[in-house]
Amino acid sequence: MGSLPDCIRTLIILPKEMKKYHVAIVGATGLQGQECINILEQRKFPAASLRLFSSDKASGRKVFVSHREMAVYEPSSQAFDYANIAFFLEGAGTSTHYAPLAVQAGALVVDTSSAFRLDPWVPLVVPEVNLRDAAKHKGVISTPSSGVIPLVMVLHALNKRSRIKRVVVNSFHSVSGSGARAMEELTTQSKLAIEGKAVAPHIYPHQIAFNLLPEVDVFMDDGYTREEWKIGQETRKILHVDDLPISATAVRTPVYIGNSLAVNLEFASSLSREDARGILAEAPGIKVQDDPTVSLYPQPWSAARTDEVFVGRIRKDTSCDNGLALWIVTDNLRKGAALNAIQIAEAMLRNDSTP
Ligand SMILES: NC(=O)c1ccc[n+]([C@@H]2O[C@H](COP(=O)([O-])OP(=O)(O)OC[C@H]3O[C@@H](n4cnc5c(N)ncnc54)[C@H](OP(=O)(O)O)[C@@H]3O)[C@@H](O)[C@H]2O)c1
Repeated sequence: MGSLPDCIRTLIILPKEMKKYHVAIVGATGLQGQECINILEQRKFPAASLRLFSSDKASGRKVFVSHREMAVYEPSSQAFDYANIAFFLEGAGTSTHYAPLAVQAGALVVDTSSAFRLDPWVPLVVPEVNLRDAAKHKGVISTPSSGVIPLVMVLHALNKRSRIKRVVVNSFHSVSGSGARAMEELTTQSKLAIEGKAVAPHIYPHQIAFNLLPEVDVFMDDGYTREEWKIGQETRKILHVDDLPISATAVRTPVYIGNSLAVNLEFASSLSREDARGILAEAPGIKVQDDPTVSLYPQPWSAARTDEVFVGRIRKDTSCDNGLALWIVTDNLRKGAALNAIQIAEAMLRNDSTP
């Protein structure tokens, strides 16, 4: 390997004997990218170096990493020449274009976009659920959409006790799932609305401040949105249950961070709320917050900036024989995106199955 370009700096000093990896982040100036940098630092990811990429308009801009300024560059065909791991935290277009170049350069790509999620040759992975699938990667591992990650963690845990026959999910998505500009729009609109002034929507088709929009991603011919369709497709792929019936309704909410899911499950045999609570309390990455007597249940406000999937309001679904209803909340930028990607990379490093 030749000398490293200027834009590569040592992120964390590690003991000499520990293997270190050259890391690239695409989408470094975005919400997911910034969260990714934070989490790599918090978890002391064994990074020998870090290269940051964003769109051409941010090229040359500086971001802070470990209290030092680092330049951000536009990706190019040589961008990944030194990378062992490349986190793709931008949209599907950027991943489709640049991820193959990163793989060609020898990097393991962990992609949070929808570009490859349903490709049969790409593992779609939540480490607590189907880490084994990751070993079959051919250079790219995808992470699911932010609502699917908490959903499959809960389904996987409960399905071990009693087979799940049917899933109905209503998902409530925060504006941070649409990027930094959507968060700014919520702030601007909220101020204008409080002042009684006219609100002009830009990111969403209607005002999001003080409103709910049952439209996440584009509408399809059958009346479902693409987000609702993805919830079904991705969940079935991760759980390896091709015929699991799932119906979803996805709603955009005026919440900055945190996705919430109201879920109704039908099981092959009965599962009491006490048993479900016990199973979920033992499941990795899940925290039960469920005490109606003191109004304890998960909320996006308190789940923001945390790493767990929170579950509460666990109760019998009285509309069928073996049903349960529950409420799930998680931080869509952390476990819903960047953290899940980093956990995948960490698991691959433990087995050292990077290319
Ligand atoms: N946030 C979530 O919960 C979540 C979860 C899963 C997936 N997603 C999806 O992931 C994408 C990014 O999310 P985000 O929240 O980080 O969005 P964001 O805050 O809008 O940031 C987007 C990032 O991508 C960069 N970028 C744009 N075009 C690029 C290009 N051609 N090449 C390289 N980098 C480019 C932007 O750079 P500039 O600063 O130069 O514009 C910025 O760093 C969105 O499409 C979102 O729908 C989001």
